[in-house]
Amino acid sequence: MLPLILVLLLKSSSALGQLTPSPTYSPPTASAGLVASTSTPNTQWSNVLGNSLYFYDAQRSGKLDQGTYGNRVEWRNDSALNDGSDWNLDLSGGWYDAGDYIKATFPLSFTLTALAWGALTHGEGYDQAQQTAYLDGTLRWGYDWLIRAHPSDDVLFVQVGSGDVDNSYWGGDENIPTPRPGYPINSSHPGTDAWSSTAAAFALGSMLYSPSISYNVTSTSSPPTSPSLSNSTYSSLLLSHAKTLYATANNTSPRSTYYSSLGESVAAYASSNWQDDLTLSALSLAVATNDSTYYADAYNYYVTYALSGLKEVWNWDSVIPAIYVLFAETAITRPQLAKGAGLDTNLTGWRTETENYFDSIIDGTFKRSYLTKGGLLYVDGDSDEASLNPAMAIAMLMFKYAPIASSQQKTEEYNDFAQSQLSYMLGNNPMNAVYLVGSHPNSPQNPHSAPASGGTNIKAIRTSPATEAHVIYGAMVGGPLSDDKFWDWRDDWAQTEVALDYNAMIPTLAAMQLLNETSDPHYVSIQAGTYSIPSGQPCDAALPCEGSGGLSKGAKAGIAIGVILGVLLIVAAIWWWKREKIASWWRKGYRR
Ligand SMILES: *[C@@H]1O[C@H](CO)[C@@H](O)[C@H](O)[C@H]1NC(C)=O
Ligand SMILES: *[C@@H]1O[C@H](CO)[C@@H](O)[C@H](O)[C@H]1NC(C)=O
Ligand SMILES: *[C@@H]1O[C@H](CO)[C@@H](O)[C@H](O)[C@H]1NC(C)=O
Ligand SMILES: *[C@@H]1O[C@H](CO)[C@@H](O)[C@H](O)[C@H]1NC(C)=O
Ligand SMILES: *[C@@H]1O[C@H](CO)[C@@H](O)[C@H](O)[C@H]1NC(C)=O
Ligand SMILES: *[C@@H]1O[C@H](CO)[C@@H](O)[C@H](O)[C@H]1NC(C)=O
Ligand SMILES: *[C@@H]1O[C@H](CO)[C@@H](O)[C@H](O)[C@H]1NC(C)=O
Ligand SMILES: *[C@@H]1O[C@H](CO)[C@@H](O)[C@H](O)[C@H]1NC(C)=O
Repeated sequence: MLPLILVLLLKSSSALGQLTPSPTYSPPTASAGLVASTSTPNTQWSNVLGNSLYFYDAQRSGKLDQGTYGNRVEWRNDSALNDGSDWNLDLSGGWYDAGDYIKATFPLSFTLTALAWGALTHGEGYDQAQQTAYLDGTLRWGYDWLIRAHPSDDVLFVQVGSGDVDNSYWGGDENIPTPRPGYPINSSHPGTDAWSSTAAAFALGSMLYSPSISYNVTSTSSPPTSPSLSNSTYSSLLLSHAKTLYATANNTSPRSTYYSSLGESVAAYASSNWQDDLTLSALSLAVATNDSTYYADAYNYYVTYALSGLKEVWNWDSVIPAIYVLFAETAITRPQLAKGAGLDTNLTGWRTETENYFDSIIDGTFKRSYLTKGGLLYVDGDSDEASLNPAMAIAMLMFKYAPIASSQQKTEEYNDFAQSQLSYMLGNNPMNAVYLVGSHPNSPQNPHSAPASGGTNIKAIRTSPATEAHVIYGAMVGGPLSDDKFWDWRDDWAQTEVALDYNAMIPTLAAMQLLNETSDPHYVSIQAGTYSIPSGQPCDAALPCEGSGGLSKGAKAGIAIGVILGVLLIVAAIWWWKREKIASWWRKGYRR
């Protein structure tokens, strides 16, 4: 009864405006992860949710004592207050993208899309965990910056800060190097992908804040609701940005990726295409507005760009799997959209599309993918840096879709597979490693985060200081290698870096568990001290190894050049040695 009363209280307080946390939440120390939860909602899952949102506070840029609850990360300082001054704009605020200090719009939009879309269907989990005010603070921190980064219809800043300047700095947030240029796209330098993905993030966010929009995806009579964020002013503001961004993306030619328009300065998140982003944004706007024109666009692009049957992971670069699931959800929640566009609702077809995709992952026919010995979904190429990303993204999609699958058997298969991936991340793996920082004594101690590390020596990132200065609670690190081994080394960014997009699924996954699961996350059953750094050397993009097991790109190129030179030398020697004979063959050939 008590949780219900609290939920009702939260819902009514939302009418007064922005939410104020009550009670306030601070991450408990890692040893709390050893204690089984005895309450409902589950304390451990509430902590996973609370900590994964706290991570976004730790990534904040700009003036920190803003918003509903100010700055709760005591070791962070105001920073980069002059961002945007090169364009006479205020582009301060927002979040640092990862372990460094650039601000990047494309992965930010992906992150907000995942957060908002997850909360639409499972937001009640935030209410139960009393995290809705922190969700509000997190979303507003992201969206308020995106609004500043979108000062006129076609202008969208896609990055602030220079990769070149930033990559040569390792240190705290008080001496972040300048200049920190802003990089805009506009009608003469288009970025269909960035405009579109930002439009999708805004559209889904506007639904979350709308007091009147409902989004009932399940077949149960009491589906989980979205969180109590109701604010029509904010909802309309987000929707207006979504509409102008989509109109700009849809109407500006030539359509192009923002990387093609701006070049190497924005190479950190160079997306490979814009077709998927344009499609997802049209569909998101359709769902947010009930306007079939957008649905017609989405379906048209899905067909024109041949997006059916593609086997891609879901990440900032590819949103194709999200398109499948959102089409399936739309067939249930907004059947009138297809009809209004003169199309078939085709729930069966969208289920087939989605399930073909999921089934290929489960049965191992998904290209380049397999399960590691320890059970992690590993997609060669996509999982080589930050291996946990593809796995968590699939887990969120499968959990989201499972209740509307075509059969009870499929529902169970998807729930089981998703559960196995989440469980792996939270300690059910051969290393006994818990990949969320600060959640358990076996959590990573050395995440690759310049501000958290306290280090200032870029030549000694691993060793200086010996102990990470601050605990960046709730950050999911990149994750283990394909042999399930994990080196908790600060300089191994492929395994230990933290990032906005890495964390994007975790709050939703925790909210889902809160609504469903009475058992604790796996880590509660793990004894402290049972993780240790493996012997030997990792072989990954951060620390390429020179041994036979795997060569760095440089080493491989060196060997290839050596072999080619050797062959050429032998050919030349033979030619010199047999030059008379060759000359006579040549002459004979001519005569024939
Ligand atoms: C809603 O959001 C707006 C914009 O952020 C804010 O100014 C206002 O205080 C919020 N509350 C209400 C009740 O509108
Ligand atoms: C914030 O400022 C304090 C005081 O100058 C400093 O000790 C601390 O390292 C700074 N934090 C970061 C993340 O750089
Ligand atoms: C349009 O964007 C390009 C590339 O970022 C920039 O150089 C140019 O100044 C922008 N044009 C305007 C009118 O802002
Ligand atoms: C769109 O339609 C759905 C279901 O018919 C409804 O719940 C929702 O509130 C509508 N949205 C808008 C923006 O009118
Ligand atoms: C949600 O949808 C299902 C099936 O379409 C329906 O049975 C149920 O009553 C709906 N629940 C609410 C609260 O609208
Ligand atoms: C998007 O652009 C296409 C033409 O490329 C047009 O047919 C369609 O109506 C546009 N969509 C909207 C919502 O304006
Ligand atoms: C429904 O979807 C299936 C599978 O994607 C497709 O083959 C079929 O043509 C669609 N039917 C209609 C009427 O759109
Ligand atoms: C929760 O469990 C029910 C059945 O017990 C299932 O239908 C649903 O998909 C599950 N959801 C998650 C997120 O685990």
